Amino acid sequence: MKEKVVWQGSTQLAPVPVVLVGCGNNTDIPYNLITVAWAGTVCSDPAMLGIAIRPERHSYGIIEKCGEFTVNLPSRRLAKTVDYCGVVSGRDVDKIKKCSLHAFPGKSVSAPVIEECPITLECKLQNTIPLGSHTLFLGVIEAIQLDPELIDPSGRMDIDRADLLAYAHGHYYGLGECIGHFGYSVRKKPGPVVRK
Ligand SMILES: Cc1cc2nc3c(=O)[nH]c(=O)nc-3n(C[C@H](O)[C@H](O)[C@H](O)COP(=O)(O)O)c2cc1C
Repeated sequence: MKEKVVWQGSTQLAPVPVVLVGCGNNTDIPYNLITVAWAGTVCSDPAMLGIAIRPERHSYGIIEKCGEFTVNLPSRRLAKTVDYCGVVSGRDVDKIKKCSLHAFPGKSVSAPVIEECPITLECKLQNTIPLGSHTLFLGVIEAIQLDPELIDPSGRMDIDRADLLAYAHGHYYGLGECIGHFGYSVRKKPGPVVRK
């Protein structure tokens, strides 16, 4: 048996998504963006996701107050913007303006949809769970805004066209090539499963 190296428990789950969470309503509460890597889908029906945010973040109080947020999925070309929004606070800088991003309200929430991000999930806050360093905000995904360029001729979303970012142990990555699809391991008829 190969002996493994054993470490103390820590946040080594990888890769994870890295997203731009949008908050505010652009009326009494200015729009803001916060980079979040502790994010994930938590339920299929109702469609829900969770984002974990430290209470000291400027965005924290905004999300609590507004009860809604957006999750904007950045493409590879936005990596520097994602990093910037994760090291500068909306208390000091209008990050949307500084990064030359364009924001407009969602269909089901007032929080900002970022035009430059190919996919935006509009979320209504359903539950807030303090965990320790971070608080888990659970949101119901009420609507999704997609860049029309992602839609293929059959009307389906071609996720490859989004050229999404991933995050692992402090580093940003583009997604690699597709090497299979859901259930392909038990598929009887061999077929073209690899998308380039
Ligand atoms: C790659 C990356 C991932 C991050 N993930 C999180 C996260 O999951 N939760 C969190 O509270 N802060 C996270 N941060 C830190 C915040 O994005 C950062 O403190 C930001 O400046 C807060 O913005 P705000 O004060 O305008 O809300 C991350 C930063 C980076 C660069």
